[in-house]
Amino acid sequence: MHVEDFSKLVRSRYSARDFTSDPIPPEVMDGILDDARYCASWSNTRAYCVALAQGEQLERLRHAYTAAFDESLGLQRKERGAILKALLQGKLPDGDFKVWREYPKELKPRSQKVGKGLYTAMGVPRGDRVAREAAARRNVQFFGAPAVMWLFVHKRMLPFSAQDGGILLQNIMLAAKARGVDSCPLGTLAVWRNPVEKEFQIPQGYKLITGLALGYATDARVNEFRAEHPPIELLPPRAA
Ligand SMILES: Cc1cc2nc3c(=O)[nH]c(=O)nc-3n(C[C@H](O)[C@H](O)[C@H](O)COP(=O)(O)O)c2cc1C
Repeated sequence: MHVEDFSKLVRSRYSARDFTSDPIPPEVMDGILDDARYCASWSNTRAYCVALAQGEQLERLRHAYTAAFDESLGLQRKERGAILKALLQGKLPDGDFKVWREYPKELKPRSQKVGKGLYTAMGVPRGDRVAREAAARRNVQFFGAPAVMWLFVHKRMLPFSAQDGGILLQNIMLAAKARGVDSCPLGTLAVWRNPVEKEFQIPQGYKLITGLALGYATDARVNEFRAEHPPIELLPPRAA
């Protein structure tokens, strides 16, 4: 393989946020999974597992996630009494990790910048709550993707299992891209565990860390958006 081929592949991957409904042929999916297993792992523990949904099962999950999202709108809008109401109704998001969290001050600008770029590409006007919520709803509907994975990592091996999971995720996305299959990680899915728990046998101790949409990108404007990939800054040495 030429180094240019690798550079091209790694630069061609981006998070697609609008997919056609075209299914991924089984042999293509098999190839992706078969390549993806060649990743490094902490002590080779590979303390992760993956659930893959397509077809009818995925449609059930799409509905279930949409319902969970809609039920949590009061919380997302920070309405008064929303937490208590959700608690009493047993409808508090049941994710294993706290996804909705405040970012450290120095990291916030990056997240705000990508958010702004995305909303512009999606045509969401500033301050338009309804349009914002519609965009967020598309996120829990997997942006229309025909295949979605849920990635679980072993709680007792954290943070190394999460690290391994990330390496696996990147291998999956590159193996997909090499076959013309686009992707978007879906961390938002980790807000709710219950929908995926109902569909798969998840071994004890494994915690939901992220989802991943796979499919074929449409030519929607949002898919033209590219995030910044700043150079990796090396730390300066201590002065002698
Ligand atoms: C673990 C993880 C979870 C993510 N979750 C979401 C998500 O829920 N929705 C979304 O639109 N993008 C999500 N992203 C995509 C990031 O926003 C994206 O990777 C980043 O902006 C860099 O852009 P790129 O992937 O196009 O290079 C996620 C990325 C990662 C690594």
